[in-house]
Amino acid sequence: MVFDSVAKHYPDGTVAVEALNLTLPAGELTVLVGPSGCGKTTTLRMINRLETLTSGCIRIGDQDVMESDATQLRRHIGYVMQHSGLFPHHTIADNIATVPRLLKWPKTRITARVEELVELVGLDASLMKRYPHQLSGGQQQRVGLARALAADPPILLMDEPFAAVDPIVRTHLQDELLRLQARMGKTIVLVTHDIDEAMKLGDRIAIFQQGGYIAQFDTPGRLLAAPADDFVVDFIGADRELRRLALQYLEADEIDPGVHVAGSMTVTEARTRLQQAGSSGVVVLDGERRPIGWLDWERLRQADGASRIERLELTLWRHQLHERTNLRSALNALISAPGDVMPVVDDEGRYLGVISQVQLTRRLS
Ligand SMILES: Nc1ncnc2c1ncn2[C@@H]1O[C@H](COP(=O)(O)OP(=O)(O)OP(=O)(O)O)[C@@H](O)[C@H]1O
Ligand SMILES: [Mg+2]
Repeated sequence: MVFDSVAKHYPDGTVAVEALNLTLPAGELTVLVGPSGCGKTTTLRMINRLETLTSGCIRIGDQDVMESDATQLRRHIGYVMQHSGLFPHHTIADNIATVPRLLKWPKTRITARVEELVELVGLDASLMKRYPHQLSGGQQQRVGLARALAADPPILLMDEPFAAVDPIVRTHLQDELLRLQARMGKTIVLVTHDIDEAMKLGDRIAIFQQGGYIAQFDTPGRLLAAPADDFVVDFIGADRELRRLALQYLEADEIDPGVHVAGSMTVTEARTRLQQAGSSGVVVLDGERRPIGWLDWERLRQADGASRIERLELTLWRHQLHERTNLRSALNALISAPGDVMPVVDDEGRYLGVISQVQLTRRLS
């Protein structure tokens, strides 16, 4: 999708977009982010011709949107509006069925499609007969998404789709969108105010300034590593380095075998083990090689030599580190980890080794 010198002046003289030049790769999720009033919604609405361009042109493939039939165009473009935008006097099922109805699909096909979508976006089928005001904000957002996906359009426009929900639901919806997108591979243009959301969801991010000027258009990694100017730096925020960590992952060779003992060992055996390793503490594993706690030298010294390790009071971890963990989570977990090391586990929760503060610091510098 290409924006070529696109301008939008509203009839009252407001210049919402001055000269927008942007090329959005097909099959990717592009995020538009920027301060309020900088022209993000206007930009989305020009794509599906809910707004008419004042000058310039938008092309999807080799099709100029202003030259294509507006109804035809909107059938190929799903639109999730800012503030959900559901029809208040239609049931949830009817809202979702809007486009298939316009396309005059047979009734049975519509019903089947609605059922499929309800499941796809994680809604409860019992809500179908209700009206939008009888749903929570998060449920309404899901209905908005289901409605936009109804006719399986190759392009999806989403205007602050998760703004109205609490942080926990938002995280959940974001994860689901990523999961869906991994399967669907649609061309998605998503607007948000939230830079964390942009970093999490976007293959690419366009940072808008007033008048629809692009301060920078780049991948999250590039934005963080090489912000174009002070505006971008301010927008990304002071904890840029921490955000960068969230985009980097633990490498397999950074996981150290670590010092570990089986819970079935005796205290005496464990003491020998620790002395040999010259370690101040040890990860204790259960019979399935799952970490069950941390045992430090002081506690081991005081315990009765014949008792089993698993009977002692172990220090528990507040986090669990997975082998595909990003470095921000790893650092977060390490801050509170006893002995300055954290065990890393595989999908089954089995011990792979440890990552230490020393190692992580080395990696970061
Ligand atoms: N119908 C309209 N008539 C006149 N001006 C408008 C109209 N719609 C939007 N504007 C103005 O155009 C500018 C861009 O608006 P737009 O809605 O695109 O911003 P936005 O980036 O989506 O903002 P927000 O983040 O607050 O949703 C704003 O100054 C707005 O007041
Ligand atoms: Mg807007």
